[in-house]
This record gives sequence, C-alpha cells and structure tokens, in this order.
Amino acid sequence: MSEVVTYQREGAVGVITVNYPPVNALGHAVRSGLLAALEQGQQDAEAKALLLVCEGRTFIAGADIREFGKPMQEPGLPSVVEAFESSDKPIIAAIHGTALGGGLEMALGCHYRVALESARVGLPEVKLGLLPGAGGTQRLPRLAGAQVSLDMITSGNFASAAEALQDGIVDAVESGDDVKAVGLAFAQKVIDEGKPVRRVRDLNDKVEAEKGSGIFDQYRAGLQKKACGLFSPFKCVDAVEAAFQLPFTDGMKRERELFMECMESPQRAGLVHAFFAEREVSKVPGLPKDTPVRDVNTVGIIGAGTMGGGIAMNFANVGIPVRLLEVKQEALDKGLAIIRRNYENTARKGRITQAQVEERMALIQPTLSYDDFADVDLVIEAVFENMGVKKEIFGTLDKVCKPGAILASNTSTLDIDEIASATSRPQDVVGMHFFSPANVMKLLENVCGSQTADDVKATVMAVAKRIKKVGVLVGNCYGFVGNRMLHQRGAEATKLVNEGASPQQVDKVLTDLGFPMGQFAMSDLAGIDVGYRIREERRKAGEDVPASWMDKLAEEGRLGQKTQAGVYLYEEGSRKPVVDPKVDALIAEFRKEQGIEPREISDQEILERCMYVMINEGAKILEEGIAARALDVDIVWIYGYGFPAYRGGPMFWADQVGVKEIYDTVKRFHDTLGGDQWKPAALLERLAGEGKTFGSL
Ligand code: 3HC
Repeated sequence: MSEVVTYQREGAVGVITVNYPPVNALGHAVRSGLLAALEQGQQDAEAKALLLVCEGRTFIAGADIREFGKPMQEPGLPSVVEAFESSDKPIIAAIHGTALGGGLEMALGCHYRVALESARVGLPEVKLGLLPGAGGTQRLPRLAGAQVSLDMITSGNFASAAEALQDGIVDAVESGDDVKAVGLAFAQKVIDEGKPVRRVRDLNDKVEAEKGSGIFDQYRAGLQKKACGLFSPFKCVDAVEAAFQLPFTDGMKRERELFMECMESPQRAGLVHAFFAEREVSKVPGLPKDTPVRDVNTVGIIGAGTMGGGIAMNFANVGIPVRLLEVKQEALDKGLAIIRRNYENTARKGRITQAQVEERMALIQPTLSYDDFADVDLVIEAVFENMGVKKEIFGTLDKVCKPGAILASNTSTLDIDEIASATSRPQDVVGMHFFSPANVMKLLENVCGSQTADDVKATVMAVAKRIKKVGVLVGNCYGFVGNRMLHQRGAEATKLVNEGASPQQVDKVLTDLGFPMGQFAMSDLAGIDVGYRIREERRKAGEDVPASWMDKLAEEGRLGQKTQAGVYLYEEGSRKPVVDPKVDALIAEFRKEQGIEPREISDQEILERCMYVMINEGAKILEEGIAARALDVDIVWIYGYGFPAYRGGPMFWADQVGVKEIYDTVKRFHDTLGGDQWKPAALLERLAGEGKTFGSL
C-alpha cells in the first residue's frame, strides 16, 4: 500500500486519504496510490460509498509542477480521474484549503463534492501557461455553464466555497474545520438516501442549452486586451468551447491536444520558473530559516509624497499602525488626501467597503514631529534622492528612535553604508526599496548594508510577506539589482535615440517583447525629474555622466505623467502616452548640438542593445554577489518592472536566447560601441565558454 494514499473503512464508508505534504500535489506516487486505494474500496464489500479526503493544510493543490517537462509516468492524471468517475460506488470529495487544478479535476471526477466554508476552488493552470488537462475544461462547463467556466479557467482565479455552491461546482458547504467528519456525514447521507452515482460527464443539460451561443467569439475578442501576449488563455477558450461542440470523449481528446500544445510552449517553462523562483527568493542562502525576527507592530514613515503615501497604505491595508511624517502641514494634508482618494477609488470599484476606507485611514496618524517616532519598531524614510538630506534624517532617527528599531531607507540607488554612517547603529540600518506605485507593485527589494544584522535582514523579509509583497534580499551597490540594470537599459535606450531611433520605436520593441510599457513611458510614470536628479547627483560627485536630451525635458518642466508632458503627452486623467512632435524637435536639436547624424536603427539592434546590456549587468551583479542567484534577478524584474513572467525574467530569458549568443553580441558591441557597460562580464564569458546557463549556477 502506498504511504501517501491510504484506504481505511469507517462504518459503511471507505475513506481514501491523501497525505503528501506540503500541498498533496498529484505526483506519481499519489496518482498510483489513488488508483490502488480506489481498487481496495471497490473490493471492500462493506464499503457502500467512498470518501476522498486530504490530510494537512489543503485538499489536492494540483498536478505536481515539479514533474513538468520530465517524461510522464503512468498512470496519467486523466485516467485516474476517469477511474474515479467510473466507480460503481458513489464517491464523495471533501474539500478543505484549496482544491486547485488537477485537485479540482479529481474532485470533479467524484460524484459529489462537499466543502468547508473556508475552502476555495480554482483552475489556475493558465497562470502556468497551461489549461486544465485532466478534464477540467470538459467537466466544469457541465456543472457551471460557459460563462463561469470561461471566467475561472482563463483567469485562474479562485472561487470561494459559497460561490462554488452557487455555481453548482460543489453540492454542499459546511461550517467547522473537521473536513473528514464533514465528508463522512455527507457520505452517510448519500448511503442513507440511496443517492445514485452521478457522473459529471453525463450531465449534458448545460452544454446542450448553450450550444451555438456566440459567447466564445465574444470572449476571445475581450481576451485580446487582457491576455498581454499570453498564449494559453486562448487555448483555454478553445478547450471550453469543445465541451459545447463535441461529445465528452472527443472533448477530452481535444483538451489533451490543446494541453500538450501549451505544455510544449516556452511560455509554460517561463511561468513555471517564475512560480518556483517566487517561492525560492524567500529562502536566502546564508540566512537560516530560524533566524530570529524583531517585532514590528508600529511603523514610522518619513515623507508623505507618492512613495511615502503608497508605502503607508501597504501597512494600513494589513492593520499595522503607521505614523506618517512631513515637515510641513500642507504637504501632510496633501499626502493624506491622496491616500484617501486612492482608498475611495478602490471602494468605488467594490474592492473594499467604505468602513474599511475609514479603518485604514484611522491607522495612518499624521505627524510633524520626530518625537512621535520614539517608540516605533520600523522607520522607512521615503524622501527624494539626496544623500545629504538622507544622512541628516538618519542622524535624527539615531537620536529619537528606541534601541533595536529598524531604520530603513527607500532609496532606489544610494549607498546604504553611507546612510548608515550617519547613525551609531549601522547594524539596524537597511534598504527597503519599494516600487512605484508602492501600494500596487509586488516587489520589495531589501538591501543589506555591510553591517546590517542578520535579524534585521530576516525581519525585513518577514515584513515583505506580511504586507503581501515579494521580498528579495540583495547587496549594496549603486541602484542595487533592479535600478542598476534599468539604468544600463535606460542609458542605452537614450543613446539609441541620440543615434536616430525614436522614443516610440524603442518603447514598441520592449512592449512587443511583453513589457507592459517601454523605457520612456516608464520614465514618464516615474517622473523625468527622478532620473535627472540622480544624474545631477552623480555629476556633482565627479562622475562623467554625458549630457542627454532627457535632461532638456526636465529643464523644460516636462516631468512626465504628473505634468501631463514628458517624453510623451498625456490628456487630463489619462495615462495613455501620445507622441509629441515637440519632443522630436527637441531630440533633433540635441543631435545637432552634439553633431550627431541620425541613422536608421533596426528593431533587432534596439532589442539586443536594450536587453543584452541588462543581461551583462545582471551577470556582473551575480559575480559580485549583489544577487545571490539568477532567480533573484528574475523576480526583481518580474515584480518590480513588469518583465513578462512568461519569459521567466531576464536571466531565464538569456538562457533561452543562449548565453553564448549573448556573450558574442556583447563582445561585438564592446568592440564597436565601446564603453564599460559592454565589457563582457567575466561570468558571462565563463558560462558561454563552458556551454552553461545562468540557471545552472
Ligand atoms: N506542485 C508541486 N509543488 C507545489 C505545488 C504543486 N502544484 N503547489 C505548491 N507547491 C509547493 C511550493 O513550491 C512550496 O514548496 P516549498 O515549500 O518547497 O517552497 C509549497 O508547496 C508551499 O507552497 P506555497 O509557498 O505557495 O504555499 P501557500 O500556502 O502560500 O499556497 C497554494 C498554497 C495556494 C497551493 C499555492 O502553492 C499554489 O497556488 N500552488 C499552485 C497550484 C496550481 O497551480 N495548481 C495547478 C497545477 S497544474 C495542474 O494541475 C495541471 C492539471 O490540470 C493537469
């Protein structure tokens, strides 16, 4: 008997229990164990009904994603589901936690489903570049109809137990937390009432009623906007449509064909990499899991501007009180008004209630005095990028904050060690780099100074989780991981425009690759003044930062979206960039001043220069140990800069393009264009020479 699936009879019910931590995924041992336990149940003359239930935190959370890409070992999941559905004894699935993907498909193969109130169900395969491949696209429509099935399968979103009951996906919802007891009671009722074996594959009323409806074409048209370059949502629609066009067994064949197309697509590989990378980043090499963390019950934030306000919202959203400090009452009032407006917009969209708006606002206490920071556990400074100002603030914090308080800077580029030097407690100083808009973007780049204590590192990673961000722990250098790479891309993109490309051509190459916005649309979002200030700081520090047409924009007050004009123009209330001929003229004038004769630049050259310069920098970041693993770089880019998750992040993408190809091109650019940014990273050279990938590190 398999250890991960057991069979045991309780009264007249044969109980099949899956126990395969952490999430009862349907690995080979579980699939074969399920078949063996089913066989036992069939042969057990005393068992009048069978119950499928799981141990641990959840019902089956899906196929075992770790098996993807490896040769499939029999029995396959569709045949396990089919065997359950074909049983002559009624089978009841009792669901707790999350029944996801293949897990929900297993439950749909059972004849009845009962769920705890707290349970959720979903078919999230689309998030991994797949579609439900064990009958989900054929069985769900037979219970829930076309609209619900399309919504669930193309979005991958979970439904609550109550919603699942309403949509006919489960038959009953029960309170309490003893899922086995709930399942046994339901099974006993099935026996007592002589309920039949009810196979979902035979329930054809819904698919017959909606046959020939125009919903599928409409749905495809709607997806064009939402799918953002993804391949599998459209395959999901094709598969669901098959349930309405073909008999069940033919529909299953169609589902399999479409599933295999998705399985073989590079998008699946990228999304699965992103799934595991997101989970790996929290396991920091050299920082043991049991590193103590400091209590964080109150947070102080300095600066009520766009960043400070957004950061404050993250804490208020999870019930952590915030003290928000500004120097002037006017700035404080303005900041609070923006926070309120953001919350009220969310309430208008129905995502939170008005009462929640008030609760969250009440958690954000405005202040003009550092004295109010005397007892906070964590301070996050979010003022503009100026080392002098930051050092002054940290000097003050050192005086007013209690011992053991964590002093964090939201700097996006500056040296954490230099900031820490303004205090007598560098071990408590750390970077917490949020991404704009800070209440939306999921990344939190936590930056360690050379003296940051381990418990501070562990605490800021735990804080990330608490405020529902993905925390990545990185080392201290100019721009850390994300902005250091971005600045190389930005500088190269700006040069490409100097040489003859238009900003919109550069942006289109990047959006065609899957970025939600291009380099220059992003500069407009962040504010043209941000980059300008950074360049000015570097010039003041004696660095050779060449003149740029972007400086001219800043000097003309074209600061981006906030002034409705930057690289692009923006209509009142719109974020849609509109090309402005005045900017073309400004660029032409700049080229003239610099004596540059513009030339035609191909999209391929733009792609290679913008992307490979980032990869080369990423390789330098890895060899310097600023990022511990290639996957840390990938996650920074996916969650901080909208790198298309289906391409797996820049370093994963580099592996797909070919490390050798990238090395050769970088070397060629170094020979032809020159500049330190094109000096091939030693790591890139080594990997190319050894025929290895970044993923192999
Ligand atoms: N296969 C293998 N491992 C899985 C897994 C899966 N389906 N789902 C989760 N895990 C692992 C995670 O990698 C993690 O491992 P680690 O501890 O070594 O890092 C561990 O389980 C716990 O996962 P989380 O950290 O994500 O735990 P949470 O409690 O936050 O979330 C969850 C649990 C909601 C189940 C979440 O893990 C999740 O969404 N999992 C993916 C579910 C999914 O996509 N299922 C569909 C799979 S595809 C499929 O079924 C194809 C079929 O149609 C044929």
